[in-house]
Amino acid sequence: MPEPTESTPIEIAPSLPRPALPGTVVVRESPEDLIDAIAADLYFQAVACVRAFGDYHLALSGGSTPEPLYARLMYDPAYRALPWKRTHLWIVDERRVPFDDERSNFRMIRDTLVDHSDIPPEQVHPMPATADDADVRYEAQLREHLGWRDKGHDRLDFVVLGMGADGHTASLFPRSPALDADGRLVVLNDGPTVTPPPRITMTLPFLNASRFLGVMVTGEKKRATLARVIASRGPRAASPEERIRELPITGLAPLAGELRWYLDRAACPGESSKLKAQSSNEGV
Ligand code: 6PG
Repeated sequence: MPEPTESTPIEIAPSLPRPALPGTVVVRESPEDLIDAIAADLYFQAVACVRAFGDYHLALSGGSTPEPLYARLMYDPAYRALPWKRTHLWIVDERRVPFDDERSNFRMIRDTLVDHSDIPPEQVHPMPATADDADVRYEAQLREHLGWRDKGHDRLDFVVLGMGADGHTASLFPRSPALDADGRLVVLNDGPTVTPPPRITMTLPFLNASRFLGVMVTGEKKRATLARVIASRGPRAASPEERIRELPITGLAPLAGELRWYLDRAACPGESSKLKAQSSNEGV
């Protein structure tokens, strides 16, 4: 590394690409480094919310991307002091299958995190996935528990989200009925664009009321979708309604909260040629 001179500013962070996404963007070299970044933010928010409100409302997604994050929160001593006893754990979306089905998001979250934490069982809120009125019941639970907070603070504090290659987030799939949910916190979702089985999901307006939305995207398989997300806001952009119908993740826009993307380098658009050049330089 060259010696810093007057004309070369001191590098305070590695110069990684920073895709032009709305909100703030955190990029780390590897998925492991990225977990440190989101875990630290999740922890910081937990401490701040418990201090301010006495509790912390955390909502987790399923999928393969955040699973190592949930495991890290359990085994890494850096996060041992997470205030689980003051945490309410919610599920962002669910497949309408029993909890012992391997496709159940709650099953993964229970096995990776809940069973290893000291979170009180009454503060763990799985979606009643197979009930006919699962959406209505979950919405009622959310209103009941968040209703203890003062008006304006009655919202989720931290939500972990992912992104599918088709641009879905939570179980909000392109052109699916859940995108039209009006005034609802949670809805059922199904249809030709919904990857089976049928789903139950938090809605965009409810997610956008949250204090902090953290979207984790890793791996080169998601790169093209991130490029579409960026292009969808460019000069040839469609109307916001059309854009959200085609790429639901672009509907994430917290009203008074923060949207933060957590990307590893492989997921960043424009990285493929650089990575190839880099690896041939390194003789890999
Ligand atoms: C789910 C999620 C969903 C997920 C994306 C990405 O239930 O699967 O809530 O929105 O975040 O499909 O999934 P991967 O992390 O497995 O790529």
